[in-house]
Amino acid sequence: MNTTQAAQKLLQGELIVFPTETVYGLGAVASNAEAVQKIFEVKGRPQHNPLILHIFDRSQLDELVELVPDTAKNLMDHFWPGPLTICLKKHKNVSDLVTAGLDTVCIRMPDHPIAQELLKKTGEAVAAPSANLSGKPSTTRFKDAVAQLQQDAVYFLDGGNTQIGLESTVIDCSDDRIRVLRPGSISRADIETTLDTKIFHEENTKITSPGQLLQHYSPEGKLTVIIGKPEQRREWIQNNVDLKHSHLGLVGSFDEFNPTKHQYLALTEEDFKSYAQQLYGFLNWCDRQSAQHIYLEFSDFSHPLTYTLLNRLKKASNGNIIRL
Ligand code: TXA
Ligand code: MG
Repeated sequence: MNTTQAAQKLLQGELIVFPTETVYGLGAVASNAEAVQKIFEVKGRPQHNPLILHIFDRSQLDELVELVPDTAKNLMDHFWPGPLTICLKKHKNVSDLVTAGLDTVCIRMPDHPIAQELLKKTGEAVAAPSANLSGKPSTTRFKDAVAQLQQDAVYFLDGGNTQIGLESTVIDCSDDRIRVLRPGSISRADIETTLDTKIFHEENTKITSPGQLLQHYSPEGKLTVIIGKPEQRREWIQNNVDLKHSHLGLVGSFDEFNPTKHQYLALTEEDFKSYAQQLYGFLNWCDRQSAQHIYLEFSDFSHPLTYTLLNRLKKASNGNIIRL
């Protein structure tokens, strides 16, 4: 399927899985309530979890939000197109189905040629959550999206592997108290520098966004995250992990190992960017192998992605983290 066919499908009320620079999305035309409702059904997503709208041009905002405050304009100038989702007061036209009844709507302009082409050809805002079953790991590789969502009502656009691998940063600019609702590859520090003001993290204070709930992005098997220096991790693994019956992921390219069920995945490079790119691919792969015990190693030294990666690891493991 190409973007012209996919845009036609969207306009006919069908769902399209498409790549973005963060993760794959499962899109429907936002103005078509029936199509939007299908997203919730296909994902098994709770109706109270609102969707992000995807646009290709800022002129589309006029029909989606009441007002674009200067702070939001500033962020759009700096980070759009890109992995920053901005939450604003919604226009009355935007359906309650998209926003789960909230008076705000989250909007993002993806920085991916296929996503942009699709959105342009569709000519309308596209509501799209991550392309995965509710609670399961997001998808960053075409085959993972197909494996989770293949069914009659869904069409797929192949964009290979996504570049960033972590969902967008969500920032609420709908009132004066600007806050990050979900960390992403654009950090709070990046945003503070751009706006020259302090902003808040709402993660642990009030749940306004169901993505903030603890368990999320989880594989079927029991995931344990081991944090420490490489030697410490190695020792802990030797002493505690039955390597014959476990799936072990470290930083690096696990795909190259063509792994079989019990293979030890020895990946050692300390590279946060590639860790982010590959995290969900690894978790999806584990699910396809019916892995029961999954171990992920991590080093939490200071890096711009540390905070966001830890956030996802905590959720994927339901807090099952061992710090050495
Ligand atoms: O990178 C991304 O953002 C990907 C790609 C496909 O664009 N999309 C994505 O969508 O991650 P989703 O639905 O998996 O996550 C959207 C998050 C959810 O945690 C949702 O609760 C929150 O954004 N959200 C959406 N609208 C909101 C609103 N009006 N107020 C607060 N949170 C909102
Ligand atoms: Mg999601």
